[in-house]
Amino acid sequence: MRDTFNRKIDYLRISVTDRCNLRCRYCMPEEGVPSIGHGQVLTFEELFRVARVAVELGVRKIRLTGGEPLVRKGLIPFVERLCQLPQQPELTLTSNGLLLADQAAELKRVGLQRVNISLDTLKPELFEQITRRPGLDQVLKGIDAAEAAGLWPLKVNMVPIRGVNAGEIADFARLTFEHDWQVRFIEFMPVSGGLDYPPESRLPAAEISEVLHAIAPLAEIEPKGPVGPARLYRLEGAKGVVGVIPAVSDHFCGECNRLRLTSDGFLRPCLFCEDEIDLRTALRRGCSDEELALLLRGAVQIKPERHRIAEEQVIPTRRRKMQGIGG
Ligand code: GTP
Ligand code: 5AD
Ligand code: SF4
Repeated sequence: MRDTFNRKIDYLRISVTDRCNLRCRYCMPEEGVPSIGHGQVLTFEELFRVARVAVELGVRKIRLTGGEPLVRKGLIPFVERLCQLPQQPELTLTSNGLLLADQAAELKRVGLQRVNISLDTLKPELFEQITRRPGLDQVLKGIDAAEAAGLWPLKVNMVPIRGVNAGEIADFARLTFEHDWQVRFIEFMPVSGGLDYPPESRLPAAEISEVLHAIAPLAEIEPKGPVGPARLYRLEGAKGVVGVIPAVSDHFCGECNRLRLTSDGFLRPCLFCEDEIDLRTALRRGCSDEELALLLRGAVQIKPERHRIAEEQVIPTRRRKMQGIGG
């Protein structure tokens, strides 16, 4: 599928639930957000149908997100079915890691290729402060389990926030001396409005890079495959790789290849675009695969050229917060 800016759209992010077992302050208020009602959430059968048609239209990569995808019961058989699609899309998942220790081996067995794990601090008290829940040990066990299961390359996503965990960038980067991981620093996006960290908390990519440069000489890694959002480097002598995702300051929209499906069945052509295409109504009135394909193509056609969060500073995502979109 090509959009009106001639970008090839071949990556679908499926949010399988908006629920989460953490309450990260940049993502959700303490009380959580009103959860989407059970009846509104797409069944795995419905999600699978959308994924199958998307793959038939050329989607080559599927990422399962949340909320926290591992809290949804029945995920493993869903992963298995996706892996059995004849086109064999690349199948990956983004998780906060809390439940990975229990599920990593099984996920690998049914065909999941790799995981990205969100972790913002290596300090237990700060973990509890940022996520409003204890659990650092459990996440670290989850990372070990993912590595042991062969979910590779393993990526760790860290969002540095000024005055909170920004002092830990070097500690995270140094993990790559010991481990063959990809540790990526994501610019904080002040998108959810009214949450605990103001826009000034954002650490621009340039500042993140400065910290990395001060640790050891950095060699830039030329992207092999399609350009993703991360710029990658290797610290001299490191086994793993560090990356910076300039989500706000230097948008990579020109190479964007994504579509997002929310757990209640709406296609979102862009992370920051409130125009969504309703698939659920069509699915539940028994639409044909051809109709579904038309709706998918329609979403690709309205994909905007780029986001403007740098210009507009705070974008209150009106209908959904990050946890409902899946990052
Ligand atoms: P890989 O396939 O491993 O490269 O995954 P990914 O980077 O696509 O997925 P992940 O869920 O780890 O996302 C990393 C972060 O990049 C997201 O949480 C966002 O912060 C940022 N990001 C992903 N997609 C977009 C996008 O379309 N626009 C912007 N501005 N940021 C994005
Ligand atoms: N800014 C930047 N990254 C965010 N994530 C969630 N909310 C934000 C935000 N406001 C990240 C999570 C996770 C990924 C899917 O999105 O840390 O790694
Ligand atoms: Fe949950 Fe992810 Fe949001 Fe944290 S960022 S509350 S882990 S959905």
